[in-house]
Amino acid sequence: MENNDRGQWGSKIGFILAVVGSAVGLGNIWRYPYLLYSNGGGAFLVPYFIALLTAGIPLVLLEYGFGHKYRGSSPLSFARGNRKFEWLGWWPSITSFIIITYYTQILSWAINYLYFSFGQTWGSDTNAFFFNDFLQISSSPFDFGGMRWPIFLGITVIWAINWFVSYKGVSGGIEKLNKVLIPTLFVIMVIIVIRGVTLPGASVGLNKLFTPDWSKVKDPNVWMDAYGQVFFSLSLAMGILVTYSSYLPKKTDINNSAFITAFANSGFEFLAAIGVFGILGFMATSQNIPIEEVASQGIGLAFVVFPKVFSLMGSLGVVFGILFFLSLVFAGLTSSISLLEAFTSAVIDKSGAKRGKVVTIVCIVGYAISVLYATGAGLYFLDIIDAFINSFSIVTVGLLEAVVIGWIIGGDKIRSHTNSISIYRVGKWWEIMIKFVTPAILTIILITKIVNEIK
Ligand code: PHE
Repeated sequence: MENNDRGQWGSKIGFILAVVGSAVGLGNIWRYPYLLYSNGGGAFLVPYFIALLTAGIPLVLLEYGFGHKYRGSSPLSFARGNRKFEWLGWWPSITSFIIITYYTQILSWAINYLYFSFGQTWGSDTNAFFFNDFLQISSSPFDFGGMRWPIFLGITVIWAINWFVSYKGVSGGIEKLNKVLIPTLFVIMVIIVIRGVTLPGASVGLNKLFTPDWSKVKDPNVWMDAYGQVFFSLSLAMGILVTYSSYLPKKTDINNSAFITAFANSGFEFLAAIGVFGILGFMATSQNIPIEEVASQGIGLAFVVFPKVFSLMGSLGVVFGILFFLSLVFAGLTSSISLLEAFTSAVIDKSGAKRGKVVTIVCIVGYAISVLYATGAGLYFLDIIDAFINSFSIVTVGLLEAVVIGWIIGGDKIRSHTNSISIYRVGKWWEIMIKFVTPAILTIILITKIVNEIK
């Protein structure tokens, strides 16, 4: 069914900012710096770039070309490519919907911490504050505890913004939001990095970050982390890039957009890592603690270690805290909008219903589910679902996409489509990647993951 009401980007730069907005998210600001550090510092860049070249960039090209050729959300594009595979289009779109229900949760923490940064009201034991006072984690996943009202409030704000922007449509909402937030985010990050690397002790952090530990390159887990990060960070296998490129005018240089997206995203994470480690170096030196201890994992970095660092900096720390949590909020918001769009556009394409109505219903349901995470048991659910999606779903979808589009729908069709409208022509190498290299690597990763899980 052709729905002329699908919407279109107002400009190519609007599209680029929107995809960069999706790609640059919470994963770039706290996940990547930690991964880089714990997986061998500078040595991690080797698996990371190989992952980018053998799976990241080929799949970005694939998703762009696919969505643009078939001009539909993920399920509609698959249905048009080959009726039998519509289900494969729904899988990533539904995954996007599942992710947004907990992604909004982390965003809500960031909004709350943005508020706390004004008065640095996180106390001196930032660890106890985060887990006991703020999250108030209950004793088991079956014990919901009470509703955490500040988190609930944050989620409400985030969903309201998501609803509003999405309701306004592709160019009137999503594009406008990204045009403002992404350049602002970039400026904020540059300020954080410049100040971060000029703090006393910053070099200690940077040295740690960049001193390569080559033994790690032999560790298969490091390679899995590299592929996982590239997938998550580029928002691959979520139906997002397919959907976003379907909103491009018929004649657009798709190929160069793919390279711009990949480099902007990696550049941003690299920048974030430098800023983060400059700040950690300062923390380690001024407190006389080994950097290994401050570079703690995942959520702890943003919500435990950073607040502590900001408290040490006095009034400068207030400004720093505000900027840091603002960057998390901006980066996360533009990603959550893209998660919502991957699902709503699929429903709009399928039902032919008006955008406004679909957006409203999806947001109400999504919000209702998100609220469950704002209870004391929230973190348990978040961990379980996140682990499942990150370890299996994303890689499986990426693998199936490469096989189904490369072999059955026809990688050659996609390549000749994008080459006919792009200045830079993608060579035969791309088809070899998509048909052989990417599937082979993803299969190995998947098997290794399953074997590790069973062990
Ligand atoms: N790419 C985003 C990040 O790095 C996360 C994300 C994943 C957003 C999947 C949308 C879809 O945080």
